[in-house]
Amino acid sequence: MLSNKRILLIVAGGIAAYKTLELIRRLRERGASVRCILTKGGAQFVTPLSLAALSGTKVYDDLFSLTDEAEMGHIELSRDADLLLVAPATADILAKMATGMADDLATTALLATDKPVLVAPAMNVRMWEHAATRINIETLAGRGVLRVGPGAGDMACGEFGEGRMAEPDEILGAIEAFFLGEVAPVTPSGGAPGRTRTLKGRKALVTSGPTIEAIDPVRYIANRSSGKQGHAIARALAGLGAETTLVSGPTGLADPAGISVIHVESAREMLAACRQALPVDVAVCAAAVSDWRVGEEAGQKLKKNGGGPPALALTENPDILKTLGEAGNLRPGLLIGFAAETEKVVEHAKAKRKKKGADWILANDVSPATGTFGGDANVIHLIDDSGVEDWPRMSKEEVARRLAQRIAENIAAKG
Ligand SMILES: Cc1cc2nc3c(=O)[nH]c(=O)nc-3n(C[C@H](O)[C@H](O)[C@H](O)COP(=O)(O)O)c2cc1C
Repeated sequence: MLSNKRILLIVAGGIAAYKTLELIRRLRERGASVRCILTKGGAQFVTPLSLAALSGTKVYDDLFSLTDEAEMGHIELSRDADLLLVAPATADILAKMATGMADDLATTALLATDKPVLVAPAMNVRMWEHAATRINIETLAGRGVLRVGPGAGDMACGEFGEGRMAEPDEILGAIEAFFLGEVAPVTPSGGAPGRTRTLKGRKALVTSGPTIEAIDPVRYIANRSSGKQGHAIARALAGLGAETTLVSGPTGLADPAGISVIHVESAREMLAACRQALPVDVAVCAAAVSDWRVGEEAGQKLKKNGGGPPALALTENPDILKTLGEAGNLRPGLLIGFAAETEKVVEHAKAKRKKKGADWILANDVSPATGTFGGDANVIHLIDDSGVEDWPRMSKEEVARRLAQRIAENIAAKG
C-alpha cells in the first residue's frame, strides 16, 4: 500500500514521541521509507539511536551540520519526500509553522518544502484549546496542511480532554487515505482546500461494541465484542469526510476524534440512538447486539436464599439492522450489517442478508480459535446481491479502510 512512498518524519518535543517509534515500524512494514528529523525538544523524549535503528537510516537534527549539508542539504531533505509528517506536532512547532519561522532544521525543512504536510498534534488540553493554538491550526488548515487527530482521553499530564496524539494506526490510516485517493485526513475544523473528500457532504452511522443487558442492578448479560472493528470503521468513514455518528456500547476504547459518539448500554438504547441519527447515507451495524435480554430486570440485587438459582426468562431484543431496513423513507441509502458466526459463516450470513433486508453483510468467523473478538485482525466475506467476495486476513484498520472505500465508490456510483 505504501511501497516506495518516502516519508520525511519530523519528531518534535512531546511525550507522545514514544508512539512515533511504533509508527515508524508500521510505516516500514507497509513498504514506506522513513527519514527522520529530530528537534532539540524531540531529543528529550526519544533518542536519535532509536529513530535510526527503526528507520534504518541516519537521523538529521542539525541545521548547521556541514557534513549533512554536503551529503543531503536541508532543501533536498525537504523536497526528497512524498509527504512530510510531523508527529508529535507540539504547540511550539505548530506556532512556528504558522508564522513561517525557520530557526532549526525541522522548521527550515517545513518552510522550504513544496510537498504535502500532515501534522499529528499532541499537547495538553489547555494548550490545544488556547486561542493561539486555535488560530495557528486554522492558519495551517487554510494553507492546506493536513491534520490527523488529536483525540480525547486521559493525558500523560494527568488531565483529561482533547490533545492526545492520534494512535499509530490512525496516523497510518490518514497517510494511506492520502495516498489512496489524495483524500484529506479528517479534521474537525476543515482540511485541505481543493482536495477530494470522497464522502464529504455524506452522513454515516456506525454501531460498535457489545450491548449489555441488566439482570439486576449489579449483573448483566454481555458478549466479547471489543468495539475495535466498529470504531475503526467510524474513523475510516470520517477519514473520507463523512459526517459520522458512532453509537457505541461499553468498550475500553477512546472516543475517536472528529466523530459524534453516543454511548449506550442496552440494545433498546442503541436502537433509539440509531433512530435519532437518521437519515443517513450509509449505516454500518458492526455492534454485537444482544439477541436477548432478561424479561424482567430485578429492581434489587438477586440474593442467594437457599431456594436454588433464579430462573432467567429471556425475551428477544429489537433487531436494529432489520428495523433500519424497514425504516421506509428513513432507510439508510446503503445498509450494511455484520454477521458474527462460529460455523457455516457464509451460509448463515447470506440468510441474514435476506432476512434483515441489508444491502451488504460482512461475515466474520468469531470462533475463539480465530481470535477475532478482541484481536486486531479479521477475515471478512463481503456478501451483496452479486455474490460473495472473500477478503484476505487483514488488520481491523485495513478492513475499515477497504470498506470505507467501497462505500464511497458505491455512493458515488449511485450519484
Ligand atoms: C515532560 C514534558 C512534556 C511535554 N509534552 C509536550 C507535549 O505533549 N506537547 C507540546 O506541545 N509540548 C510539550 N512539552 C513542551 C515542549 O517540549 C516545548 O514547548 C518544546 O520547546 C517543544 O519543542 P519542539 O516542538 O520544537 O520540539 C513538554 C515538555 C515537557 C518538559
